[in-house]
Amino acid sequence: MDHFNYHGGELHAEDVPLARIAAEVGTPVYVYSAATLTRHFGLFRQALDWTDHLVCFAVKSNSNLAVLKLLGDLGAGMDVVSGGEYLRAKAAGVPGDKIVFSGVGKTLAEMRLAIEGGIRQFNIESEPEMRALSELAASMGAAVPVAIRVNPDVDAKTHEKIATGKSENKFGIPIAKARQVYAEAASLPGLRVVGVDVHIGSQLTDLEPYRAAYDKVAELTRALRADGHVISRLDLGGGLGIPYRRDNNAPPLPIEYGQVIRETVGDLGCEIEIEPGRNITGNAGVLLASVIWLKEGEGRDFLIVDAAMNDLLRPAIYGAHHDIVPVIEAAPGAAVQPFDVVGPVCESGDTFQKGAELPLLAAGDLVAFRSAGAYGAVMASEYNSRPLVPEVLVSGDQFAVIRARPTFEEMLARDSIPAWL
Ligand code: LLP
Repeated sequence: MDHFNYHGGELHAEDVPLARIAAEVGTPVYVYSAATLTRHFGLFRQALDWTDHLVCFAVKSNSNLAVLKLLGDLGAGMDVVSGGEYLRAKAAGVPGDKIVFSGVGKTLAEMRLAIEGGIRQFNIESEPEMRALSELAASMGAAVPVAIRVNPDVDAKTHEKIATGKSENKFGIPIAKARQVYAEAASLPGLRVVGVDVHIGSQLTDLEPYRAAYDKVAELTRALRADGHVISRLDLGGGLGIPYRRDNNAPPLPIEYGQVIRETVGDLGCEIEIEPGRNITGNAGVLLASVIWLKEGEGRDFLIVDAAMNDLLRPAIYGAHHDIVPVIEAAPGAAVQPFDVVGPVCESGDTFQKGAELPLLAAGDLVAFRSAGAYGAVMASEYNSRPLVPEVLVSGDQFAVIRARPTFEEMLARDSIPAWL
């Protein structure tokens, strides 16, 4: 459930008509609903309320400071994968001891930043990383908490570009090798083993891969304890999918996911960490755009909108579907017709949807791309020298610009021409 609904024939974010935001901020623009973010975060907490836990929001899905502040104030921890994300979480007021650092390629500079600023745990992804972290932490006189990410070789049954739990993927240490790597971790200075980490992929719509992976984590935890390690935390990753289409094939709910966690690892007495991103932010945001032209083609009509693949990349790179709806609700019984909804960028890949069933729209009309709150603004670029898309946060009947649209001057000012040219 989200808070983007029609009232009086007009699509609103909570109590704010999207048309008002478009008039004041312009389009394209991302619009997020605070009530939806709050609700989705609460569902994960509720799903784990049977145990000690920390819901660490995956910052990569939406890293706007206002979003992080809202979630941080609700008690969220943060899962970060870069120095930049770490600094964003800190800037939003999240204490270091609620931040976990994931990612296959942490640099020494990023590790140092997090050790100096405080960190809940590093999720180690490889032996070279482990040894480097050990050396660095020891040289700084620190003993940093670590979990080792294991690769359970489980098929998450999701899009191949966002599956991470198979042995052919670059992530984690093969689970079969884990005892050996934990033994080395325990012997190294500067590291304090606290847990096990796993993450098998994103947009999972089936709980069975989770069950398979978590069963393996439970078995490993018992073995590691038998080897003498103190395993007090399990970081079970993120990845629970969201409904991108308003049909009856909704993915499982957080409460059902929590039940799988309970059934697989619940008896180990560990504190549970999870790292959901998309499930909290995805349906809490829309991308609002205006129709520029309606162009009649041969056998198909194009709706050319002012948002493009640089603003919302998912359709172009994953073939992802985002529902596209008119901001002014079509009259009941009004005719709909198929449109190819495309952006202005000079690539055929700049197509959001082929044959979208929409009422007849005209230049200047507004449309909303739904489910765009996760991996939307964060993946945007300035391709075709289109200024970065701005972001707005709505709460009740108020809204605020939480990232302004850069002016052309600001965009150009970032480049410089060397004196010798
Ligand atoms: N934890 C780790 C270690 C991750 O790598 C990810 C996502 C998450 C948590 C959060 O997963 P979520 O709950 O959001 O599914 N750009 C792609 C998604 C990439 C996900 C990468 N890792 C997309 O637009 O679908």
